[in-house]
Amino acid sequence: MSRNWGVTITWLGHASVLYTDASGRSVVVDPWIEGNPSSPPAAKAMKRVDAIFITHGHGDHFGDVMPLAKRHGADIVCNYEISVYLAGKGIEKVHGMNKGGTIEAGGVKGTMVHAIHSSSIEEGGTQHYAGEPCGFVFEFEGGTRVYHAGDTGIFGDMKLIGELYRPAVAVLPIGDLYTMGVFEAAAAARMIGAKAIVPIHHGTFPALTGTPAALRDALRDAPGIEVVALKPGDSAS
Ligand code: NI
Ligand code: MN
Repeated sequence: MSRNWGVTITWLGHASVLYTDASGRSVVVDPWIEGNPSSPPAAKAMKRVDAIFITHGHGDHFGDVMPLAKRHGADIVCNYEISVYLAGKGIEKVHGMNKGGTIEAGGVKGTMVHAIHSSSIEEGGTQHYAGEPCGFVFEFEGGTRVYHAGDTGIFGDMKLIGELYRPAVAVLPIGDLYTMGVFEAAAAARMIGAKAIVPIHHGTFPALTGTPAALRDALRDAPGIEVVALKPGDSAS
């Protein structure tokens, strides 16, 4: 169903999201395909990846960054610390940045914003420091903005993000335990003020208990906010 967002949002399971603009340029956030129990065939079938944005170093967000970067020659956008790590692995076209900054990659402008979480890269059984976790506000061709929150708890400046960037869509984690649950995500949705919420980071493991149905229920008194529940591999635009 088209909601005239001007961008196609495809959920690739767990926290992986593919954004495709009107010109067919494709940006992937937090690719995790190998070992992702909810990865749909669409994730392996991606023919074009212009840029990869990374919110933090945890394996369920970072697992397929290097394979995808090598296969597609994509630009990579991430925090400074992860950029140094990737450059050390011989990955080219890595763009390190920090919160508050905006970069253009893959035809989209991405502004790095705050997230409350942790960030590390596991290698050889050891956790390596991987900078601060983040979210992104994307501005696509045509001007549509999407707030992709990354793994995060709720924080008051989500209201500021809503006021500053006026996103049409907010892509929020709802699974609980490692991120916001439904109770917090519903409050976050009210603060952000986007007309549509795309829930992610749910349904992958039994420990992630938040569901889109429960989020819809928690927002039943907010008819101006639509919960757009996708199945892995499904798109909305
Ligand atoms: Ni995480
Ligand atoms: Mn995660």
